[in-house]
Amino acid sequence: MSPEANNGKLPVDRALTEGRAPERSAEEIPELHEVDCPPELRERIEQLMSRYPDRRSASIPALWAVQERYGWCTPEGIRQAAAVMRFTPGELESVASFYDLLHTDPVGTHRIEVCTNISCWMRGGDELLDAFRAAGEGEDVFVTGFECLGACDIAPMASIDQRYYGPLEAAEAATAIEQLRAGGEVLPEKALAKRPLAADLPGAGTPPAAGGSDG
Ligand code: FES
Repeated sequence: MSPEANNGKLPVDRALTEGRAPERSAEEIPELHEVDCPPELRERIEQLMSRYPDRRSASIPALWAVQERYGWCTPEGIRQAAAVMRFTPGELESVASFYDLLHTDPVGTHRIEVCTNISCWMRGGDELLDAFRAAGEGEDVFVTGFECLGACDIAPMASIDQRYYGPLEAAEAATAIEQLRAGGEVLPEKALAKRPLAADLPGAGTPPAAGGSDG
């Protein structure tokens, strides 16, 4: 409803009328022929945009696609995404610089986020982070501390190239970096993906015995 039709009496939901889009001039939006956007990246961003009624909602996944392509959100990658999405590079840059998992500076080939939030911190998360930093020194690895990664049951834990590992010992940091360098499997015995599902554990699905022990 426009403010006029509303007679100015009711609050107007700007998101439903004008949207939250900042004012932008068409000259600020790069044209596709001005950027050398790889066809696969363009296709992926267009496919992401098609999932949402407002193409703005695809900004984060589109930037993630840029990051996957180039290793980080390069200025040129952001321009390419902006051209496909019909945004200004500045709009996407502001999104990329807001989120910790999107990088607007070059980072290593491998990324390690060590959780230092409460559960992990209580079980040695700070020492684990120090150990990864020391082991990753001079390597093509980006190591950073991170807030809760949502896997507190395997504290202390870390995300290594987007896969979760835990509970980790500080001494395993050097092993993990060595395995990354060698291109091998990383700490297979600590990989969350390799843990058995609760449904697969012995006794799962067996109803408790009738009566109980506290009767
Ligand atoms: S506190 Fe570390 S994963 Fe939640």
